[in-house]
Amino acid sequence: MAFTSSTSSLLALAFLCFSISAYTCFAKCHVDDETALLAFKSGITQDPTGMLSSWIPATDCCTWSGIECLDSNKRVSSLSLFGESDPNFFVTGTISPSLSKLRYLQGLYLQHLRNLTGTFPTFIFNLPDLNQLYLDNNKLSGPLPLDIGQKLHPQQFVGLSLSENRFTGSIPSSISQLVHLRDLDLGSNLFSGPIPSGIQQMKNLVFLNLEKNQLSGKIPNFFTSFTSLRELDLSHNKLSGEIPPTISFLAPRLELLNLGHNLLAGNIPNYLGNFQTLDRLDLSSNQLTGVVPTTFKNLTDILYLELGHNHLVDPFPEMNVKKIEGLDLSYNKFNLGTIPKWVESSALIYSLKLAGCGLKFRLEDFKPREKYFYDYIDLSDNQISGTPVGLMNETTLLKGFWASGNQLRFNLSDLRLPNGLKTLVLARNQIFGKVPQNISRLEKVDLSHNHLCGPIPATKFAVKAFLGNDCLCGSPLPPCKN
Ligand SMILES: *[C@@H]1O[C@H](CO)[C@@H](O)[C@H](O)[C@H]1NC(C)=O
Ligand SMILES: *[C@@H]1O[C@H](CO)[C@@H](O)[C@H](O)[C@H]1NC(C)=O
Ligand SMILES: *[C@@H]1O[C@H](CO)[C@@H](O)[C@H](O)[C@H]1NC(C)=O
Ligand SMILES: *[C@@H]1O[C@H](CO)[C@@H](O)[C@H](O)[C@H]1NC(C)=O
Ligand SMILES: *[C@@H]1O[C@H](CO)[C@@H](O)[C@H](O)[C@H]1NC(C)=O
Repeated sequence: MAFTSSTSSLLALAFLCFSISAYTCFAKCHVDDETALLAFKSGITQDPTGMLSSWIPATDCCTWSGIECLDSNKRVSSLSLFGESDPNFFVTGTISPSLSKLRYLQGLYLQHLRNLTGTFPTFIFNLPDLNQLYLDNNKLSGPLPLDIGQKLHPQQFVGLSLSENRFTGSIPSSISQLVHLRDLDLGSNLFSGPIPSGIQQMKNLVFLNLEKNQLSGKIPNFFTSFTSLRELDLSHNKLSGEIPPTISFLAPRLELLNLGHNLLAGNIPNYLGNFQTLDRLDLSSNQLTGVVPTTFKNLTDILYLELGHNHLVDPFPEMNVKKIEGLDLSYNKFNLGTIPKWVESSALIYSLKLAGCGLKFRLEDFKPREKYFYDYIDLSDNQISGTPVGLMNETTLLKGFWASGNQLRFNLSDLRLPNGLKTLVLARNQIFGKVPQNISRLEKVDLSHNHLCGPIPATKFAVKAFLGNDCLCGSPLPPCKN
């Protein structure tokens, strides 16, 4: 039926064109598409960078920015507007329901526009060919329609991403009817309630991201059927219980597993060591207990291992990594003593966080094979003695150094501050000498509770950055006596 009527209207159009001028006529897109897009444009009240400036009436809408048309009939098949990464970039307005006139639309991508408001655009249910909907990083709100799964054409829908909006309520269980979905991203919203168990029917999922919501209950033990899953991110929710055993079925291809920032308890399962393709594992900020399994020796390709803020105990396995880039074991119940050899020998590490890890050594004895790539080093709350002067002389790209609550003893005037350094937090040590002038160009500094002395150079830092030293003076502390 739809075919017949659109075919006949095309024929009518062709006939009309022929009688005027075939060239100018066929250079224009379908009038319904033009009308729909112009109505969308009028719903955008602020477009500071002029994303829609090429959308001019009576010009071919297939040439407008963000628009793609089908070759066969010149109908709009894709509307794609992608905001800038600048967090101060805002496009303001609402999504006009007149877009339902785009009868041939397959993909609707309105991403990072940041200030599009309104509820879930239910008019898209009327678009017969739509198979991808990406509305990330806008200000859409309210609950999702309960029947979203039925209405989104389950037999064809492959990508649904609504991340970074303000959607509320529970994740409708009907979503599990989208069995062809490869990409499901509902992260960074206000969804609450449990993870629907029906999601296990979505066997084609490659990416499943529900991070940064308020989801609660246990992680369903339903992973046996996900034979394509490469990334699973359930972090920053209120999920409780243990890490479910069927996650082991994801071993052959999972690359990212992020269950961090939840309320998970119990042990880290042994099977995680079998995840040969895993390059990022984040279980940080949970309530995990016991040891890190010795099977972790087999995680040879891991790039990011984040286990900080749990209740894990020794012994930590001797890992066999080729090139770890980020490691965070902070604030567990480890007594590592020294920085593990496999960390020291890594050729690419740029973020090392071993705060509160029971480290007890002289910092001069830390001789990483490579210092050049280090961006972040956090060794706070250990019993490290000596001086970071040698280390910071060679970590030329360092952006942040935290070593509060140790026994570091050195003349602060000797410390070379790498050009890109932004954060220097060295409270509660035995640092002496003067506060160097260079400190003023940093963004965050804490030198409190040391043995520093003399006038403080002009800085923007609050008084608490300097409190508890032997004889510092000058703003923000009381003036120096002559
Ligand atoms: C976002 O939109 C609101 C209206 O919905 C408007 O008042 C506000 O100025 C916009 N913010 C920016 C930064 O454009
Ligand atoms: C590492 O993997 C190999 C084979 O993949 C296996 O035989 C061995 O037991 C594993 N080692 C550990 C410590 O799990
Ligand atoms: C800092 O590095 C330079 C060479 O890059 C070297 O000459 C100097 O001795 C080093 N200083 C310290 C305190 O390690
Ligand atoms: C101070 O900063 C300058 C450039 O920002 C740098 O060249 C110099 O080495 C720094 N001095 C110290 C003592 O960090
Ligand atoms: C710290 O080093 C500076 C420069 O080398 C030196 O002038 C100063 O006397 C030293 N301060 C102390 C307390 O040793």
